[in-house]
Amino acid sequence: MTTTNGADRRTFAIISHPDAGKTTLTEKLLLSGGAIHLAGEVKARGANRRARSDWMKIEQQRGISVTSSVMTFERAYEGETLTFNLLDTPGHEDFSEDTYRTLTAVDSAVMVIDAARGIEAQTLKLFEVCRLRDVPIITFVNKVDREGLAPYALLDEIADKLALDVTPMNWPVGMGGLFEGLFDLRTHVLTRPDQAPEPLTGLDDPRLDALLSADGVARLREEAELALAGYGALDHEAYRAGSQTPIFFGSALREYGVEALIDAIGALAPPPRPQPASPRAIAPDEPNVAGFVFKVQANMNPQHRDRIAFMRLCSGRFRRGMKLKQVQTGKAIAINSPIFFFAQDREIADTALPGDIIGIPNHGVLRVGDTLTEGEAIAFTGIPNFAPEILRRVRLLDPTKTKQLRTALNDMAEEGVTQLFKPMVGSQWIVGVVGQLQLEVLISRLQAEYNVAAEFEPAPFETARWLDASEPAKLKAFMDGRKNAMAEDRDGAPVFLARDNWELSYVNERSPDIRFSATKERAHA
Ligand code: G4P
Repeated sequence: MTTTNGADRRTFAIISHPDAGKTTLTEKLLLSGGAIHLAGEVKARGANRRARSDWMKIEQQRGISVTSSVMTFERAYEGETLTFNLLDTPGHEDFSEDTYRTLTAVDSAVMVIDAARGIEAQTLKLFEVCRLRDVPIITFVNKVDREGLAPYALLDEIADKLALDVTPMNWPVGMGGLFEGLFDLRTHVLTRPDQAPEPLTGLDDPRLDALLSADGVARLREEAELALAGYGALDHEAYRAGSQTPIFFGSALREYGVEALIDAIGALAPPPRPQPASPRAIAPDEPNVAGFVFKVQANMNPQHRDRIAFMRLCSGRFRRGMKLKQVQTGKAIAINSPIFFFAQDREIADTALPGDIIGIPNHGVLRVGDTLTEGEAIAFTGIPNFAPEILRRVRLLDPTKTKQLRTALNDMAEEGVTQLFKPMVGSQWIVGVVGQLQLEVLISRLQAEYNVAAEFEPAPFETARWLDASEPAKLKAFMDGRKNAMAEDRDGAPVFLARDNWELSYVNERSPDIRFSATKERAHA
């Protein structure tokens, strides 16, 4: 380990819509980092064939990834060993809240686009989340081995829909099902299916004529020259500022363009950046350990009923056994068995540096949004809850399981799978989610992990807002006047439940002394 400020760390997320090839690309990245020894290894595990990130039952049933997890691997780059921390994100837009929180813990992202499908509504939404978080993006246009690729159309589509400058880093040769290879526009290396990479001197290298079909080489020369002239050159600053995205064409399945992508993450993607916190931002080269919990996952191993908090380290050199202060409660917590996550294994972490993610097993003490420090009273910011767009009551099929249901709902709310509201009137809790799929995950996990059979009933509410007022008496008066529409969230914060958006704006307009918020900062909980 050569640095202590995490300069050799690349902590990034992969975002994509379902089926674009995120799982395949993740496998190939892990493979190229030596974290998996055979590409077949992940597939060979029968029912568990998906990469570790896809371990949940419902994901296996539906073939989508619904929770985020972490995978670490190392790779040499220009004589230095870089540590890559890859954070998986759910592809489905119903989980964009989870994606948002994961993006608080990364320094950059790779956006995977299916060449045949282009930018879809879901990708756009995920991209907007990245933009909100100021996360710079490298784009990987996947499945170039398939027919019907139109590289220019894709470049223009990405530029238009995402309002970004694009710069192609390589260029695919041969289309319409006759994929011949990729030409690297910067290093001039030609990669072809099942052949060793060929270093060339440029597009005018006469060897190209021997290596590609006459048609392919003619198109490559013409198109690549146009691409180089038509789009801006790579501008490292613009990429890091989030206004330009370097674009790689490739095929995760056939391992084309994957090495170039990983090298680019090494060369271009930012190392740990200062993290916003209150009252001051925390720089990665500060000596004292500070980090925050961006995710809590219960029952990762169903046999052990474990509960793991994922902490992103933002500064200092963490050592196993350290006592850290949970700033929100003032409690000291000894971190004796921190975990690193590799492709298929977990390992005890003896030391960790800024940019690293460690798993901290705990029994419900650590919560999403918590800050851990060596004593300083700072709080990392920017980890919100979002107002739910769907509210439901949960009905138990076996009424003797009330206690288990409450535990389960609390755990799931803690993970951020759902939110939980306790109405002031009546005893039936209300769960809130941003997308329909979250409800299905909830029911499936209640059954699989808590043995609780339940179903949803409509709640008479459609949306929720957190309330606040500068004068407590006015807030109390508001709440007393609307007991049937009032609830508390898990932290006891008052929440107004509205029948619909019309009612929400009606009440909002008539209550000038009350603030209605669609998000709540978790760090200040
Ligand atoms: P996801 O995690 O983003 O949902 O995508 P995943 O990797 O599961 O890939 C979705 C499908 O696309 C898979 O096919 C996968 O094999 C295929 N795929 C991924 N990368 C490429 C590529 O570069 N070229 C081509 N032609 N296909 C690619 P599937 O039939 O749904 O699953 P499987 O049974 O083959 O795994």
